[in-house]
Amino acid sequence: MESLLQQIGAYKKEISSFTATDEKQVEEFRIKYLGTKGLVKAVMGEMKNVPTDRKKEFGQVLNDFKVFAEQKYEELKQLTDNGAASSGQQIDLSLPGDPTPMGSRHPITLMKNRIVSIFQRLGFAEAEGPEIEDDWHNFGALNLPPHHPARDMQDTFYIQQNPDWVLRTHTSNTQIREMEKGRLPIRVVCPGRVYRNETVSARSHCFFHQVEGLYIDENVSFADLKQTLYFFVKEMYGKDVKVRFRPSYFPFTEPSAEMDVTCFICGGTGCNICKKTGWVEILGCGMVHPNVLQNCHIDPNKYTGFAFGMGIERPALLKYDINDIRLFSENDVRFLKQFSSAI
Ligand code: DAH
Repeated sequence: MESLLQQIGAYKKEISSFTATDEKQVEEFRIKYLGTKGLVKAVMGEMKNVPTDRKKEFGQVLNDFKVFAEQKYEELKQLTDNGAASSGQQIDLSLPGDPTPMGSRHPITLMKNRIVSIFQRLGFAEAEGPEIEDDWHNFGALNLPPHHPARDMQDTFYIQQNPDWVLRTHTSNTQIREMEKGRLPIRVVCPGRVYRNETVSARSHCFFHQVEGLYIDENVSFADLKQTLYFFVKEMYGKDVKVRFRPSYFPFTEPSAEMDVTCFICGGTGCNICKKTGWVEILGCGMVHPNVLQNCHIDPNKYTGFAFGMGIERPALLKYDINDIRLFSENDVRFLKQFSSAI
Protein backbone atom coordinates (compact mmCIF):
# COMPACT_ATOMS: atom_id res chain seq x y z
CA MET A 1 0.00 0.00 0.00
CA GLU A 2 2.89 2.33 0.71
CA SER A 3 3.98 2.05 -2.90
CA LEU A 4 0.53 3.27 -3.99
CA LEU A 5 0.95 6.32 -1.79
CA GLN A 6 4.39 6.94 -3.32
CA GLN A 7 2.96 6.56 -6.78
CA ILE A 8 0.26 9.16 -6.04
CA GLY A 9 2.90 11.55 -4.67
CA ALA A 10 4.88 11.20 -7.91
CA TYR A 11 1.79 11.82 -10.05
CA LYS A 12 0.97 14.93 -8.04
CA LYS A 13 4.47 16.29 -8.64
CA GLU A 14 4.09 15.63 -12.35
CA ILE A 15 0.71 17.35 -12.40
CA SER A 16 2.03 20.40 -10.51
CA SER A 17 4.79 21.00 -13.01
CA PHE A 18 2.62 20.36 -16.05
CA THR A 19 2.40 23.37 -18.37
CA ALA A 20 0.29 23.99 -21.46
CA THR A 21 0.49 26.71 -24.06
CA ASP A 22 -2.50 25.69 -26.13
CA GLU A 23 -5.76 23.79 -25.97
CA LYS A 24 -4.22 20.70 -27.50
CA GLN A 25 -1.86 20.27 -24.58
CA VAL A 26 -4.71 20.79 -22.12
CA GLU A 27 -6.60 18.02 -23.85
CA GLU A 28 -3.54 15.79 -23.60
CA PHE A 29 -3.54 16.45 -19.86
CA ARG A 30 -7.20 15.52 -19.60
CA ILE A 31 -6.72 12.26 -21.46
CA LYS A 32 -3.61 11.32 -19.51
CA TYR A 33 -5.03 11.97 -16.02
CA LEU A 34 -8.81 12.31 -16.21
CA GLY A 35 -9.80 10.22 -19.24
CA THR A 36 -11.59 6.88 -19.01
CA LYS A 37 -8.22 5.15 -19.33
CA GLY A 38 -6.48 7.88 -17.38
CA LEU A 39 -4.25 7.65 -14.33
CA VAL A 40 -6.85 8.92 -11.87
CA LYS A 41 -9.22 6.11 -12.87
CA ALA A 42 -6.36 3.60 -12.64
CA VAL A 43 -5.45 4.73 -9.14
CA MET A 44 -9.10 4.62 -8.10
CA GLY A 45 -9.19 1.05 -9.34
CA GLU A 46 -6.61 0.16 -6.70
CA MET A 47 -9.27 0.68 -3.99
CA LYS A 48 -10.34 -2.90 -4.32
CA ASN A 49 -6.91 -4.10 -3.20
CA VAL A 50 -6.89 -1.89 -0.08
CA PRO A 51 -7.51 -3.78 3.18
CA THR A 52 -10.84 -2.94 4.77
CA ASP A 53 -9.32 -1.31 7.83
CA ARG A 54 -7.46 1.22 5.65
CA LYS A 55 -10.24 1.86 3.10
CA LYS A 56 -11.36 5.05 4.82
CA GLU A 57 -7.83 6.49 4.89
CA PHE A 58 -7.18 5.58 1.24
CA GLY A 59 -10.60 6.77 0.12
CA GLN A 60 -9.62 10.20 1.37
CA VAL A 61 -6.19 10.16 -0.30
CA LEU A 62 -7.54 8.97 -3.64
CA ASN A 63 -10.33 11.48 -3.60
CA ASP A 64 -7.89 14.31 -2.84
CA PHE A 65 -5.79 13.17 -5.77
CA LYS A 66 -8.78 13.25 -8.09
CA VAL A 67 -9.76 16.76 -6.98
CA PHE A 68 -6.14 17.85 -7.33
CA ALA A 69 -6.02 16.69 -10.96
CA GLU A 70 -9.41 18.25 -11.75
CA GLN A 71 -8.39 21.59 -10.30
CA LYS A 72 -5.22 21.63 -12.36
CA TYR A 73 -7.26 20.85 -15.44
CA GLU A 74 -9.60 23.83 -14.82
CA GLU A 75 -6.61 26.05 -14.25
CA LEU A 76 -4.96 25.03 -17.51
CA LYS A 77 -8.22 25.48 -19.39
CA GLN A 78 -8.65 29.00 -18.11
CA LEU A 79 -5.11 30.01 -18.94
CA THR A 80 -5.33 28.86 -22.52
CA ASP A 81 -8.81 30.40 -22.92
CA ASN A 82 -7.23 33.77 -22.12
CA GLY A 83 -4.57 33.06 -24.66
CA ALA A 84 -2.04 33.60 -21.92
CA ALA A 85 -0.75 30.19 -21.06
CA SER A 86 2.91 30.60 -21.65
CA SER A 87 5.12 28.39 -19.54
CA GLY A 88 2.32 28.25 -17.01
CA GLN A 89 2.77 31.90 -15.95
CA GLN A 90 -0.19 33.94 -14.82
CA ILE A 91 -0.76 37.46 -16.15
CA ASP A 92 0.64 40.06 -13.78
CA LEU A 93 -1.99 42.79 -13.76
CA SER A 94 0.18 45.04 -11.64
CA LEU A 95 2.84 45.46 -14.37
CA PRO A 96 2.90 48.99 -15.86
CA GLY A 97 1.51 49.18 -19.43
CA ASP A 98 3.27 50.41 -22.55
CA PRO A 99 2.57 54.15 -22.52
CA THR A 100 1.35 55.72 -25.80
CA PRO A 101 3.59 58.69 -26.58
CA MET A 102 1.80 62.02 -26.17
CA GLY A 103 1.23 63.89 -29.40
CA SER A 104 1.92 67.59 -29.69
CA ARG A 105 0.55 70.48 -31.71
CA HIS A 106 2.54 71.72 -34.66
CA PRO A 107 4.21 75.09 -33.96
CA ILE A 108 2.38 76.62 -36.94
CA THR A 109 -0.93 75.40 -35.52
CA LEU A 110 -0.05 76.85 -32.13
CA MET A 111 0.77 80.21 -33.69
CA LYS A 112 -2.35 80.14 -35.85
CA ASN A 113 -4.57 79.31 -32.86
CA ARG A 114 -3.05 82.14 -30.91
CA ILE A 115 -3.62 84.68 -33.69
CA VAL A 116 -7.16 83.50 -34.38
CA SER A 117 -8.15 83.47 -30.72
CA ILE A 118 -7.13 87.12 -30.28
CA PHE A 119 -9.46 88.14 -33.11
CA GLN A 120 -12.19 85.85 -31.86
CA ARG A 121 -12.28 87.88 -28.68
CA LEU A 122 -13.15 90.89 -30.84
CA GLY A 123 -16.04 89.03 -32.43
CA PHE A 124 -14.32 87.68 -35.55
CA ALA A 125 -15.43 84.23 -36.67
CA GLU A 126 -13.06 81.70 -38.26
CA ALA A 127 -13.61 80.87 -41.94
CA GLU A 128 -11.81 78.61 -44.39
CA GLY A 129 -11.42 78.65 -48.15
CA PRO A 130 -10.11 76.20 -50.77
CA GLU A 131 -6.40 75.78 -51.48
CA ILE A 132 -7.08 74.95 -55.12
CA GLU A 133 -8.75 78.07 -56.41
CA ASP A 134 -10.00 79.51 -59.68
CA ASP A 135 -8.43 82.58 -61.21
CA TRP A 136 -11.41 84.77 -60.32
CA HIS A 137 -11.30 84.16 -56.57
CA ASN A 138 -7.52 84.28 -56.29
CA PHE A 139 -7.00 87.27 -58.63
CA GLY A 140 -9.88 88.67 -60.70
CA ALA A 141 -12.35 89.52 -57.94
CA LEU A 142 -9.50 91.00 -55.91
CA ASN A 143 -9.05 93.68 -58.54
CA LEU A 144 -6.21 91.87 -60.28
CA PRO A 145 -7.47 91.47 -63.86
CA PRO A 146 -5.44 89.36 -66.37
CA HIS A 147 -2.09 90.95 -67.22
CA HIS A 148 -2.19 93.15 -64.12
CA PRO A 149 1.48 93.68 -63.20
CA ALA A 150 0.82 92.87 -59.53
CA ARG A 151 0.21 89.23 -60.52
CA ASP A 152 3.95 88.95 -61.04
CA MET A 153 4.52 89.61 -57.34
CA GLN A 154 3.03 86.22 -56.62
CA ASP A 155 4.82 83.39 -58.40
CA THR A 156 1.77 81.31 -59.08
CA PHE A 157 1.53 77.52 -59.42
CA TYR A 158 -0.96 76.72 -62.17
CA ILE A 159 -2.77 73.40 -62.40
CA GLN A 160 -1.93 71.61 -65.64
CA GLN A 161 -5.33 70.04 -66.30
CA ASN A 162 -7.14 73.37 -66.12
CA PRO A 163 -5.37 76.68 -66.69
CA ASP A 164 -8.15 78.43 -64.78
CA TRP A 165 -7.09 76.73 -61.56
CA VAL A 166 -4.23 77.80 -59.34
CA LEU A 167 -2.86 76.88 -55.95
CA ARG A 168 -3.96 79.93 -54.04
CA THR A 169 -1.18 82.43 -53.59
CA HIS A 170 -2.78 84.07 -50.57
CA THR A 171 -5.71 83.60 -48.20
CA SER A 172 -7.41 86.67 -49.75
CA ASN A 173 -9.49 84.25 -51.85
CA THR A 174 -11.45 83.50 -48.69
CA GLN A 175 -12.44 87.19 -48.38
CA ILE A 176 -14.16 86.90 -51.74
CA ARG A 177 -15.87 83.63 -50.84
CA GLU A 178 -17.16 85.12 -47.61
CA MET A 179 -18.45 88.28 -49.34
CA GLU A 180 -20.15 86.21 -52.03
CA LYS A 181 -22.30 84.55 -49.41
CA GLY A 182 -24.21 87.83 -49.22
CA ARG A 183 -24.57 87.90 -45.45
CA LEU A 184 -23.62 91.25 -43.94
CA PRO A 185 -21.98 92.44 -41.79
CA ILE A 186 -18.89 90.24 -42.13
CA ARG A 187 -16.25 89.84 -39.49
CA VAL A 188 -13.96 86.87 -40.20
CA VAL A 189 -10.40 85.66 -39.90
CA CYS A 190 -9.32 83.09 -42.44
CA PRO A 191 -6.22 81.02 -41.68
CA GLY A 192 -4.75 78.63 -44.22
CA ARG A 193 -1.93 77.37 -46.40
CA VAL A 194 -0.81 79.26 -49.49
CA TYR A 195 1.61 78.41 -52.31
CA ARG A 196 4.18 80.34 -54.32
CA ASN A 197 6.73 79.08 -56.78
CA GLU A 198 9.77 80.18 -54.82
CA THR A 199 13.11 78.49 -54.34
CA VAL A 200 13.07 76.56 -51.10
CA SER A 201 15.70 77.76 -48.65
CA ALA A 202 16.14 78.34 -44.91
CA ARG A 203 14.23 81.61 -45.28
CA SER A 204 11.48 80.89 -47.81
CA HIS A 205 9.37 77.96 -48.91
CA CYS A 206 7.04 77.15 -51.78
CA PHE A 207 4.18 76.85 -49.31
CA PHE A 208 3.50 78.70 -46.10
CA HIS A 209 0.59 79.94 -44.00
CA GLN A 210 -1.34 83.17 -43.66
CA VAL A 211 -4.20 84.57 -41.65
CA GLU A 212 -6.51 86.92 -43.50
CA GLY A 213 -8.91 89.30 -41.79
CA LEU A 214 -12.02 90.99 -43.17
CA TYR A 215 -14.52 93.34 -41.61
CA ILE A 216 -17.39 94.77 -43.69
CA ASP A 217 -20.21 96.88 -42.32
CA GLU A 218 -21.67 100.35 -42.63
CA ASN A 219 -19.29 103.12 -41.56
CA VAL A 220 -16.18 101.02 -41.08
CA SER A 221 -13.17 103.35 -41.19
CA PHE A 222 -9.39 103.24 -41.25
CA ALA A 223 -9.54 104.16 -37.54
CA ASP A 224 -11.37 100.87 -36.88
CA LEU A 225 -8.65 99.03 -38.76
CA LYS A 226 -5.91 100.67 -36.71
CA GLN A 227 -7.68 100.09 -33.42
CA THR A 228 -8.27 96.43 -34.22
CA LEU A 229 -4.65 95.89 -35.16
CA TYR A 230 -3.37 97.80 -32.12
CA PHE A 231 -5.36 95.44 -29.93
CA PHE A 232 -3.95 92.46 -31.80
CA VAL A 233 -0.35 93.64 -31.42
CA LYS A 234 -0.69 94.32 -27.69
CA GLU A 235 -2.17 90.89 -27.10
CA MET A 236 0.34 89.16 -29.31
CA TYR A 237 3.59 90.94 -28.56
CA GLY A 238 2.97 92.76 -25.28
CA LYS A 239 2.12 96.26 -24.12
CA ASP A 240 5.51 97.83 -24.75
CA VAL A 241 5.61 97.10 -28.45
CA LYS A 242 5.22 100.12 -30.71
CA VAL A 243 3.45 100.09 -34.05
CA ARG A 244 3.90 102.03 -37.28
CA PHE A 245 1.96 102.06 -40.54
CA ARG A 246 3.72 102.62 -43.86
CA PRO A 247 1.78 103.48 -47.02
CA SER A 248 1.86 100.58 -49.44
CA TYR A 249 0.08 99.16 -52.45
CA PHE A 250 -2.27 96.19 -52.82
CA PRO A 251 -4.73 96.07 -55.72
CA PHE A 252 -7.55 94.94 -53.41
CA THR A 253 -7.25 97.76 -50.87
CA GLU A 254 -7.28 101.54 -51.11
CA PRO A 255 -5.61 103.06 -49.21
CA SER A 256 -3.17 100.27 -48.39
CA ALA A 257 -0.58 100.02 -45.67
CA GLU A 258 1.98 97.73 -44.17
CA MET A 259 2.27 97.49 -40.44
CA ASP A 260 5.56 97.18 -38.56
CA VAL A 261 6.14 96.52 -34.88
CA THR A 262 9.25 97.36 -32.88
CA CYS A 263 11.55 94.38 -33.12
CA PHE A 264 10.58 91.96 -30.39
CA ILE A 265 14.04 90.41 -30.45
CA CYS A 266 16.14 93.50 -29.73
CA GLY A 267 13.34 95.74 -28.46
CA GLY A 268 13.98 98.29 -31.22
CA THR A 269 17.69 98.90 -30.72
CA GLY A 270 18.66 97.07 -33.92
CA CYS A 271 19.71 93.46 -34.57
CA ASN A 272 20.10 90.97 -37.43
CA ILE A 273 16.42 90.03 -37.41
CA CYS A 274 15.25 93.61 -38.01
CA LYS A 275 18.28 94.33 -40.19
CA LYS A 276 19.35 97.04 -37.73
CA THR A 277 16.20 99.07 -38.37
CA GLY A 278 14.50 98.28 -35.05
CA TRP A 279 11.26 97.42 -36.91
CA VAL A 280 9.76 94.18 -38.20
CA GLU A 281 7.04 94.11 -40.83
CA ILE A 282 4.20 91.83 -39.77
CA LEU A 283 1.24 92.42 -42.07
CA GLY A 284 -0.39 94.13 -45.04
CA CYS A 285 -3.73 95.85 -44.71
CA GLY A 286 -6.08 98.51 -46.04
CA MET A 287 -9.64 99.57 -46.80
CA VAL A 288 -11.36 97.11 -49.13
CA HIS A 289 -11.27 98.53 -52.68
CA PRO A 290 -14.74 99.53 -53.98
CA ASN A 291 -14.14 97.36 -57.06
CA VAL A 292 -13.74 94.32 -54.80
CA LEU A 293 -17.02 95.08 -53.02
CA GLN A 294 -18.75 95.49 -56.35
CA ASN A 295 -17.29 92.22 -57.67
CA CYS A 296 -19.02 90.54 -54.73
CA HIS A 297 -22.31 92.39 -55.21
CA ILE A 298 -21.88 94.59 -52.15
CA ASP A 299 -22.88 98.25 -52.56
CA PRO A 300 -19.72 100.35 -51.94
CA ASN A 301 -21.88 103.44 -51.27
CA LYS A 302 -23.49 101.73 -48.33
CA TYR A 303 -20.76 99.45 -47.02
CA THR A 304 -17.08 99.88 -46.33
CA GLY A 305 -14.59 97.50 -44.82
CA PHE A 306 -11.02 96.77 -43.94
CA ALA A 307 -8.85 93.75 -44.61
CA PHE A 308 -5.47 92.53 -43.52
CA GLY A 309 -3.22 89.57 -44.17
CA MET A 310 -0.26 88.23 -42.24
CA GLY A 311 2.15 85.33 -42.49
CA ILE A 312 2.38 82.77 -39.70
CA GLU A 313 5.84 81.31 -40.34
CA ARG A 314 7.84 84.44 -39.59
CA PRO A 315 6.38 85.17 -36.16
CA ALA A 316 6.69 81.45 -35.35
CA LEU A 317 10.37 81.40 -36.38
CA LEU A 318 11.02 84.41 -34.21
CA LYS A 319 9.01 83.26 -31.23
CA TYR A 320 10.59 79.81 -31.03
CA ASP A 321 14.02 80.94 -32.17
CA ILE A 322 14.05 78.60 -35.18
CA ASN A 323 16.51 79.38 -37.94
CA ASP A 324 15.24 77.24 -40.81
CA ILE A 325 11.70 77.42 -42.21
CA ARG A 326 12.07 73.93 -43.75
CA LEU A 327 11.91 72.37 -40.29
CA PHE A 328 8.19 73.15 -40.22
CA SER A 329 7.45 70.72 -43.04
CA GLU A 330 9.99 67.94 -42.51
CA ASN A 331 7.92 66.07 -39.92
CA ASP A 332 10.94 65.32 -37.77
CA VAL A 333 9.44 64.13 -34.50
CA ARG A 334 12.51 65.29 -32.56
CA PHE A 335 11.69 68.82 -33.70
CA LEU A 336 7.92 68.59 -33.37
CA LYS A 337 7.76 67.08 -29.90
CA GLN A 338 9.48 70.11 -28.41
CA PHE A 339 6.30 72.13 -28.73
CA SER A 340 4.04 69.91 -26.65
CA SER A 341 3.59 72.45 -23.89
CA ALA A 342 4.30 75.63 -25.82
CA ILE A 343 1.98 78.67 -25.59
N1 DAH B 1 -2.68 89.06 -49.78
C1 DAH B 1 -1.51 89.80 -49.34
C2 DAH B 1 -0.29 88.95 -49.53
O1 DAH B 1 -0.39 87.78 -49.69
C3 DAH B 1 -1.64 90.17 -47.90
C4 DAH B 1 -2.73 91.19 -47.70
C5 DAH B 1 -2.45 92.51 -47.78
C6 DAH B 1 -3.99 90.78 -47.44
C7 DAH B 1 -3.41 93.48 -47.58
C8 DAH B 1 -5.00 91.74 -47.25
C9 DAH B 1 -4.69 93.09 -47.32
O2 DAH B 1 -6.27 91.41 -46.98
O3 DAH B 1 -5.66 94.00 -47.10
O4 DAH B 1 0.80 89.47 -49.52
